[in-house]
Amino acid sequence: MKTDCRVCGGKVREFVDLGRQPTANGFLTPEEAEREFFFRLAVGVCERCAMVQLIEEVPQELRYHGAYRYHASGSAGHRQHFEQNALRFLETELTGPDPFVVEIGCNDGVMLSAIAEAGVRHLGVEPSTNVAELARAKGVNVLTRFFDEGTAADVRAEHGSADVVFGANTICHISHIDSVLRGVDELLSPGGVFVFEEPYLGTIVERTAFDQIYDEHVFYFSVTSVRAMAERFGFELVNAERIPLHGGEIRYTLARAGARVPAPAVGALLADENARRLSEPETLERFRRTVEGVKDELLTVLREVRAEGRSVVGYGAPGKATTVTNYFGIGTDLVPFVVDSTPSKQGLLVPGSHLPVRAPHAFSDPYPDYALLFAWNHAEEIMAKEQEFQDAGGRWILYAPEVRVI
Ligand code: SAH
Ligand code: TYD
Ligand code: ZN
Repeated sequence: MKTDCRVCGGKVREFVDLGRQPTANGFLTPEEAEREFFFRLAVGVCERCAMVQLIEEVPQELRYHGAYRYHASGSAGHRQHFEQNALRFLETELTGPDPFVVEIGCNDGVMLSAIAEAGVRHLGVEPSTNVAELARAKGVNVLTRFFDEGTAADVRAEHGSADVVFGANTICHISHIDSVLRGVDELLSPGGVFVFEEPYLGTIVERTAFDQIYDEHVFYFSVTSVRAMAERFGFELVNAERIPLHGGEIRYTLARAGARVPAPAVGALLADENARRLSEPETLERFRRTVEGVKDELLTVLREVRAEGRSVVGYGAPGKATTVTNYFGIGTDLVPFVVDSTPSKQGLLVPGSHLPVRAPHAFSDPYPDYALLFAWNHAEEIMAKEQEFQDAGGRWILYAPEVRVI
């Protein structure tokens, strides 16, 4: 069992255990389901640097490989967000002669394709070969490798230093985060920035978004813990912006210590985290009890509607659905199948709970009485698209931040 902090070596104190869980994006065939990998999904907080992190972890090769199911371009909202990110970098950071940007975890090229279109030098570092291929098909340069200090040194030797190193929903996935920060130190130009956007502990606690907890999310960042981490590796946290992705994230900007004036938002968010006692054991214990309450309530609702003979379909098969179905014990008796728009998930089973994943047309064929919204962070986009379901009398079941039937 892991008890030392991956950032500072301090003691990690466990506060929640979501039980025996598989890898969240390890969608499988019925034959593969026979020999599935499980681990104990538990989270703790470092008593020294406040970094919230998994207690046990899944080796990275079991999470990222040639059949990685998450495609970043899967939602219109995400495509738009990352295109805007690219434009912002082009306007504000990549303005010198022959700029160079590196993205850690570029996935299917959702961000870098806009950089490539602008003709700017770039490199995606992406170990999952199947999504790396999708990025290449969009004209993106990709190195299929795990980012760490060795990779950083090789990239620098071949391409020179980077003006921007970017990562989205990736930096919190990498357990060797010390090596990542040393690598960025090696790679970044003196005036460059390391920008990363990741799920926010503040949102997870505030919205009871416990389903953000899964094997890939090794760290649950806060402004407090990221600032301490930045300083430890010679950087300074110069900006922290709240963004709406995945239900509420923070975009952190690190620069070399003293190179840039920190934005007022950093101090404001730190003060807010202190006032909320975000990383304190009592707060995290309260979070655990709230999660247990949601579990009881959701199971009661599902059992009631099923006992009345009503049909229920799961909507979306995000990594989050793996945590929820396995922790709550939701099987095909309660939710016979889920629909998801990602072609590579269709026809497979949700890890652990083994709910079959079907294509979206199965949703209206015929409409169920209830839809359990696993992809709740895309609620607006999905509910607008599925207006006919509601018009036909269908009702949505939501469970974050609390159980609601609407
Ligand atoms: N940036 C995209 C994709 C996030 S999914 C988005 O925000 O939607 C996380 C990605 O990080 C996966 O494609 C995975 O293969 C990649 N990844 C995981 N560990 C990595 C590492 N050590 N170095 C680089 N990429 C990594
Ligand atoms: P997402 O919340 O982006 O990811 P994570 O796996 O990190 O929790 O995943 C959303 C899932 O929902 C993804 O598998 C695609 C699916 N989806 C639909 O099926 N229909 C839709 O209209 C949208 C927006 C998403
Ligand atoms: Zn620590």
